[in-house]
Amino acid sequence: MNTHVMDKAIGETRLDRETQGVIGKPVDRFEGPLKVSGTAPYAYEHLKGEAVGYGFVVTAGIGKGKIVAVDTLAALSAPGVLAVVEGDRVLRASAQPMSPAAQTIDGEVFHYGQPVAMVVAESFEAARHAAKLVTVEYDKAEGRYDLAQEQDKGVPSQRGVMPSDTKRGDFERAYEKAEVTFDQTYTTPSQHSAAMEPQATVAKWDGDQLTVWSSCQLLETNVKQVAKGVGVPVENVRLLSPYIGGGFGNKLGIGPDAVLAALGAKAAGRPVKLALTRQTVFQATSRRSETIQRIRIGTTKDGHITAFAHETWAANSPGNGFFEPAGVSSVFLYAGKDRKITHRLCETDVLMTSAVRAPGEAVGMLALENAMDEMAEQLGLDPVEFRKRNEPEVMPQDDLPFSSRKLVECYDAGAKQFGWARRPTKPGTIRDGEWLIGYGMASASRANSLMKSSAEVELTADGRAIVRTAMTDIGTGTYTILQQIAGEMLGLPLDRVEVVLGDTALPPSSGSGGSWGANSAGSSVYVACEELIGTLAKRLGVDADGLTLKDGHAIAGNRQIPFAEILAGESLSATGTIEPGKTSKSHHQASYGAHFCEVAVNAVTGETRVRRLLTVAAAGRILNEKTARSQCFGGQIWGIGSALTEELVTDKRTGLLVNHDLAEYHVPVNADIPQLEVVFLHERDPHASPLAGKGIGELALAGVGAAVTNAIYNACGARVRDYPMTLDKVIAGMPDEIADAA
Ligand code: MOS
Repeated sequence: MNTHVMDKAIGETRLDRETQGVIGKPVDRFEGPLKVSGTAPYAYEHLKGEAVGYGFVVTAGIGKGKIVAVDTLAALSAPGVLAVVEGDRVLRASAQPMSPAAQTIDGEVFHYGQPVAMVVAESFEAARHAAKLVTVEYDKAEGRYDLAQEQDKGVPSQRGVMPSDTKRGDFERAYEKAEVTFDQTYTTPSQHSAAMEPQATVAKWDGDQLTVWSSCQLLETNVKQVAKGVGVPVENVRLLSPYIGGGFGNKLGIGPDAVLAALGAKAAGRPVKLALTRQTVFQATSRRSETIQRIRIGTTKDGHITAFAHETWAANSPGNGFFEPAGVSSVFLYAGKDRKITHRLCETDVLMTSAVRAPGEAVGMLALENAMDEMAEQLGLDPVEFRKRNEPEVMPQDDLPFSSRKLVECYDAGAKQFGWARRPTKPGTIRDGEWLIGYGMASASRANSLMKSSAEVELTADGRAIVRTAMTDIGTGTYTILQQIAGEMLGLPLDRVEVVLGDTALPPSSGSGGSWGANSAGSSVYVACEELIGTLAKRLGVDADGLTLKDGHAIAGNRQIPFAEILAGESLSATGTIEPGKTSKSHHQASYGAHFCEVAVNAVTGETRVRRLLTVAAAGRILNEKTARSQCFGGQIWGIGSALTEELVTDKRTGLLVNHDLAEYHVPVNADIPQLEVVFLHERDPHASPLAGKGIGELALAGVGAAVTNAIYNACGARVRDYPMTLDKVIAGMPDEIADAA
């Protein structure tokens, strides 16, 4: 077992030699054709043809209270019913990411739509019918359903993904003394990941051994959550998740289906399949919190930030320490000596909140980048220029050096390609009939992390490679990227590299989350390959450095030998592990980018059409141009949605999440999206990983929504601080003289 601890900067590696020329290339996702042809089995599709039971979840019809009695008699006597699962083991929602266990209901209702029981029957239809026959008697209680009402009771949390408070110097004093000041409050709505594949599980018992196929992002923690939830030792559980139809943070913790299916299978004496309905996904997994964010900026007259504060409030249900880390980028993005970034967690009795794609940046940068635009205008500065003036030399919070930071280069490249110089300096000045045209921009940043991860790579006797790891591919391209890394390292064409993922029987992995997957799992493959190369070199009696691997041959000096010959009929395996080390403390690591957007706003209806959107990103070595670009397209589209349409609405009287399906929860469709543009700036980050790469997945979502709303302001003069910026708010915010001129 070879372990690489990231304690010092990485120099030139085998990946820079490119004997195969596949690293970074836009290779098609190998599982793409499988997914679109229905041949990649998703969780629910396992055990085809076996005698299984089908589950259907009974959910709570109140927002808060005690469960007095659950009457299952009628359901149990309904045709085809095999069992009903109820009681304290039922999970109230998904598990929090990295948490050792999911939260059980313990006889209470914590939120509207919470699971209370599950019926198992011979068919899905029979289960659904019988679920309607289960009656629940409640002792109803008064619930708290409105963040604004609870804001004053917000407290710091010890269990977030970042500290609640980050402070330096004396903000209040510096703000008071600042020559120019800005103070605004922004609100962002709750959001839901709404992955195409719902949470679904197939569970099967063989004696006391449990096999679970479930749609999960982080198998290592997920298998523990399943074991704890079911009440068996973790050694008795095998969790598989080979193909996943999107995760977006919503599958970082197990869904309630994972435990219910296992309990149901035990009760029914046969394997059970359970897919949550779209409505239950919305109401009983996890969501992003709504936020309240106050931003204060103090500057000199020429626009140098001297005082900076970003204070945020977010909601969660009782027992959850997670808060939306909305101030995460504010800690390091801009200069400013005296600063404070705070997070307050407020309890509400609505579905628990957790990680949703780019937790923190996705909504924190809506506020931050909107504020920066407003401040630039107040100072009479171009928004790009204002940001450049506040580009810090070192991490403004603790003076750490940045590992690599090409933010200014992203501004410059983006401004040039986009034609930023043609931006109207005043709202309402460029018209196209009823349409007002505007340009907006915003920064992008996303903190980078490397996670411990292991992989085994086997060089088979016939000269192929097989990569095995409990890593997942949630649609991001992991299969293909690991294939590229192993192929390049071992000098093998891609069709001779097989990748096996998504099974806890394989070496433990970082899983997919936080944009760390490709770098972490990829680095473990790199480390395993290094060990294999060392062994090959030893057999040939040469230095590993003097060994070139290309097209299935080892080349040393004037010898060129096929792998099969060196291996002499026996396969060779190595397991590699990557671990974060000193470089994660010695250098501040983040990916950076800049977004440029052109919108047209209808002066009569307030409708916004995004006409152009360009993202320039720098995220270390890009491992696959195509999958990285696709991730950025996804981020851009999420950003457009968060700016214009996305909003999970709570009924403040009952706690019901009202728009709990994709008909009422509005995400952009193809017709809402223009041709998107993404440009990568070439970069290596020697402190980030052996691959010299950083996270890209969530970067493009960070800030993009503000580029859209800043463009709306530039088009029509409507500044809305309550997201999403729907047409009613745009109309109300548009100055009369601009609206009337249309
Ligand atoms: Mo992502 S929200 O870390 O899956």
